[in-house]
Amino acid sequence: MPLYHTLKALHAARETYTGNALGVVPTMGALHKGHLALIAQAHRESEHVWVTIFVNPTQFDKQDDLEKYPVSLQDDVASIYEIDPNINIFAPAANEMYPEGLTAQNYPLDGLDTVMEGADRPGHFNGVITIVSKLFNALKPNRAYFGEKDFQQLQVIRNWAKKYRIETAIIGCPIVREANGLAMSSRNELLSKEARSNAGFIYQVLSDCAANATSLSAIESKINTAFAKQPNVTLHYALCVNEKTLQEVSELDNKQNKRLFVAASVEGVRLIDNIALK
Ligand code: PAF
Repeated sequence: MPLYHTLKALHAARETYTGNALGVVPTMGALHKGHLALIAQAHRESEHVWVTIFVNPTQFDKQDDLEKYPVSLQDDVASIYEIDPNINIFAPAANEMYPEGLTAQNYPLDGLDTVMEGADRPGHFNGVITIVSKLFNALKPNRAYFGEKDFQQLQVIRNWAKKYRIETAIIGCPIVREANGLAMSSRNELLSKEARSNAGFIYQVLSDCAANATSLSAIESKINTAFAKQPNVTLHYALCVNEKTLQEVSELDNKQNKRLFVAASVEGVRLIDNIALK
């Protein structure tokens, strides 16, 4: 399996092929079925597939969150190998990607970066775009795959790619869920068994809102009722927003595509989820 740790080795491998054939799946490792679905899709659609595994320090606003982020390179390599041993993996060290020091660049992200996750985690999306930009510069991918669990991230990346005329198609892929509905996330493995099983209630209430709520106040009431029953869960936000602008909507009209976004913490682990609204 081609496993690269340096940009020099990546460039040497990248130079050996041209054409419209390279798909990349950027990840921070600790791969789960959601990542593997992205990799499998990239594999179906692209002749050459690269998976990047890098826990990007500049997108973490809290040092302890960065320190406890799960790392499992050997297992990740083994899971990718099962899809296809020819998939390229790039797993650099921090000083390879940030030789100039651990700082993010400042990008104008049109306010998509200052709401929801951006409001709670200042600078997060500048860190994401900084690393995505570095990876795209190195690999020059034709297609890049991102999961809709991080829907805000997906929209920030789409907006940046359009604005900067990045010639990589940004492909959003559906959320993959655990049996109880909890959106797959590398952070789930930081939860106790009990909390992980209980956290399925988040998707249940999102689904209930999407299927049955006909007004913003009905959504608010369903969310409040569900979270009131969960004394060990802290709700950070539950917002109905326009899918494109990520600005809050004032009513559930049919004129725009809307999504309900939720962020909550359980046992100090931040969980996010979202669902399309009618
Ligand atoms: O979604 C993630 O895992 C990360 O934010 C990404 C896109 C790999 C950038 O570090």
